[in-house]
Amino acid sequence: MGTQRIPAAQGVYNLQDYDKTRQTFDWQEAEKHFSWAETGQVNMAYEAIDRHAETFRKNKVALYYRDESRKETYTFEEMKELSNKAGNVLKTYGGVNKGDRVFIFMPRSPELYFSILGAIKLGAIVGPLFEAFMEGAVKDRLEDSEAKVLVTTPDLVHRVPVDELPALKAIFLVGENIEETGPFINFNKKMKEADKHLEIEWVDREDGLILHYTSGSTGRPKGVLHVHNAMIQHYQTARWVLDLQEDDIYWCTADPGWVTGTSYGIFGPWLTGTSNVITGGRFKPENWYQAIEDYGVTVWYSAPTAFRMLMGAGDELVEKYDLSSLRHILSVGEPLNPEVIRWGMKVFGKRIHDTWWMTETGAIVVANYPCMEIKPGSMGKAIPGVEVAIVDDRGNILPPNRMGNLAIKKGWPAMMREIWKNPQKYDSYFLPGGWYVSGDSAFMDEEGYVWFQGRIDDVIMTSGERVGPFEVESKLLEHPAVAEAGVIGKPDPVRGEIIKAFVALMEDYEPSEELKEDIRQFVKTGLAAHAAPREIEFRDKLPKTRSGKIMRRVLKSWELGLPAGDLSTMED
Ligand code: WTA
Repeated sequence: MGTQRIPAAQGVYNLQDYDKTRQTFDWQEAEKHFSWAETGQVNMAYEAIDRHAETFRKNKVALYYRDESRKETYTFEEMKELSNKAGNVLKTYGGVNKGDRVFIFMPRSPELYFSILGAIKLGAIVGPLFEAFMEGAVKDRLEDSEAKVLVTTPDLVHRVPVDELPALKAIFLVGENIEETGPFINFNKKMKEADKHLEIEWVDREDGLILHYTSGSTGRPKGVLHVHNAMIQHYQTARWVLDLQEDDIYWCTADPGWVTGTSYGIFGPWLTGTSNVITGGRFKPENWYQAIEDYGVTVWYSAPTAFRMLMGAGDELVEKYDLSSLRHILSVGEPLNPEVIRWGMKVFGKRIHDTWWMTETGAIVVANYPCMEIKPGSMGKAIPGVEVAIVDDRGNILPPNRMGNLAIKKGWPAMMREIWKNPQKYDSYFLPGGWYVSGDSAFMDEEGYVWFQGRIDDVIMTSGERVGPFEVESKLLEHPAVAEAGVIGKPDPVRGEIIKAFVALMEDYEPSEELKEDIRQFVKTGLAAHAAPREIEFRDKLPKTRSGKIMRRVLKSWELGLPAGDLSTMED
């Protein structure tokens, strides 16, 4: 490819020689970094926190936390004790046992992290839910997973239809002035009284760890189950890709409701004993730059939408802050525009390293490494120890520069192990030859760089958040005025895509701007703000197949003014 290249970064990096490591690396080497390699006793939370509290890192800061009203710091020793306490609280008052599903539905706060770690110490499976979810989305997830315990806040609990969730036995409320009636328990009060010692539940490497619900193009959101074994890849990619080193101050801007916020907001940094910055509150360019300056952030993992918003806030703003601590910047979640990389070079004097992976892969699979040249527009190369290829629909590997399915050879350490209660769905991701098909199309050049081309299915990536059109369409259809609905992603310069809904109205309804707004609000309050269509277009009729399925492909062609392709299956 005749593209411009950005030379390797200067410095001493954990991964010095990509090609050599790729040829020689074996995952068994990574296993040596865990205490279970000697003791045989496995638990992610022990490896991420307690183990460090027993070493020179005991008084090292594990968590720097701040939001509009709080500013706190916790050492590894304190994190150990507080997660022990949380574990005791969940066990004593929630009856949490190994394998139970414990859901956490709250904005970022230290208590969110204590709860996640505490639940993992009990061998429970943690289900983090993004705070923006409304009742319908919350119910679907708690119901499907048969969650036994929920940790939430007084502000959010009214979105939990407790009476409709028979499996849910206890609800912990984090906050002030909480009345303990029925299933409701005052988390903070119990934390104060709790014992700081806890018997950790030792698990098998293949036991469940975390359940992230994510969207596909059809059906309800599905529960992607990851196991403790994923820590091997979390650790190794935190070293090679995030390049975490002993003195780093690391900031991942993702919320733990999404996979980036757990794999690289919790596990990767703490498995490597790194000081981890977590900020609450909403995105504001000033606050973000201020956080980098105040904490002296050295490694920063964020997303293209955020970088584009920062870019939009202007270069003068960047100059007001001292961002000289930054030494390594990374991105994930959507295509990283070459223009953004060039902007990053200009204002930060640093390359932004794109990485590719997904909820199902559990950890980074393709990346740009500091020791490697960047070809802007490419997502980088496969991580050593994982086989990535472009395959056709039958699992045959395609030659360089041919577009096809971005696929991964089954067996990487952080691979999802189950779609919750849906083994057929799980199997449907794999082609003959053991190729996991990602749903993304891409090509690979002669040098092994992978170039993203688009989603093969209809999944929408808006501001780096993954939204399934089916979930939005289902909610739209619950609105009394909506007869038919089809939802697509419309390209947007800042957000990557925005959600656009095409709606056919019931007979008694007339199109109007007020009705659009009402429908929008209906999705916003029923599902989630980020899932509400930013644009709604009324049509008399939507394109459907003869079997009655909305043809999103045709909607997309309307939107983009492109030919719709094969219409032979469309009803008359
Ligand atoms: C997209 C987020 C282009 C892709 C960790 C993938 C990307 C989906 C990139 C997964 C990238 C992720 N360039 N697209 N570097 N990284 N994607 O499950 O379509 O929320 O399949 O995981 O995001 O989204 P998910």
